[in-house]
Amino acid sequence: MKRKVILAVLSAAVCMLSACGKEEIGSLDDSVIVNEGSVNDSTENISTENIQTDMSGGYIVTTTTTTIATDESGNPVETTTVMPEAVPETPVPETPAESVPSVIDYTPSTAAAGTPASTAVLPADAPTESDYNYGAAPVVYDISGIKYIDNVLIANKSYSLPADFCPELDDTCLNQFYKLQNDASAVGLNIYLSSGFRDYYTQDAIYNNYVSYDGQEMADTYSARAGHSEHQSGLAIDVNQIDDTFIGTPEAIWLEQHCYEYGFILRYPQAKQDITGYKYESWHIRYVGTDMSYKIHAKALEMGDPYLTLEEYFGIDSYYH
Ligand code: DAL
Ligand code: ZN
Repeated sequence: MKRKVILAVLSAAVCMLSACGKEEIGSLDDSVIVNEGSVNDSTENISTENIQTDMSGGYIVTTTTTTIATDESGNPVETTTVMPEAVPETPVPETPAESVPSVIDYTPSTAAAGTPASTAVLPADAPTESDYNYGAAPVVYDISGIKYIDNVLIANKSYSLPADFCPELDDTCLNQFYKLQNDASAVGLNIYLSSGFRDYYTQDAIYNNYVSYDGQEMADTYSARAGHSEHQSGLAIDVNQIDDTFIGTPEAIWLEQHCYEYGFILRYPQAKQDITGYKYESWHIRYVGTDMSYKIHAKALEMGDPYLTLEEYFGIDSYYH
């Protein structure tokens, strides 16, 4: 049996291709024909040897052999085999979504479990996602009962904190507040801390007190139920007068305009009660870090909406489930 093309040709081809490094050399079109048959044989084999790059840049060689024989009646019978069999392509791993926080030890929350929080089953009267979803669908991570989106702790009517979560006021938050306070002072403004960290049980007492005066429905518009207050996170600060007399003061105006420069956002802006779950609080700022506060501020400018909320930025809701 003679071979019209020797495998050495193939070897040489592979050597040449190897010199190309990782360059894609194409697909099954890169083939070398090998005829293993003989004019005098009763069967003739025509082989095609194919060279492909695999997904890691290596080379795969397959041989397609077409055998032409004759049956008992003298009619040609053609069979084709491919050696080795084609290997299924390795799936390309999905690139993690940008919003996935860089945490290692986490358990996805029930609401999230790897799915956008906004797909949770909502009651009929709940705000819909389209009402306030400017960002990508969020992934919510639950770390020891505390919920995070994009490394930002979330505490609102939908996302609660465990009763035993008692971190005190965050040092970085406090230091950034002092910087804010100093800069405000330099332009003649007096901004001072009125309320910082409140633990679960203090919040419970405050909320129940308001309920006894105003009833639950009214109290829910301005006071968080225990486990739902940002003050329990150690990342929220109330400044100056904690009531509507602070609205429109030079301090309130300066705070709203500048707090993002120190890593804070105005957490309950005007006319956003349907989104945050709370009426306007000109005195309540939330520390999210300067990276995030600048991102939210930039998005707010883009949207033409000066005070974007966490609910809007992350596309989440805030209501008692
Ligand atoms: N006043 C805010 C909503 C709180 O109670 O945390
Ligand atoms: Zn507050």
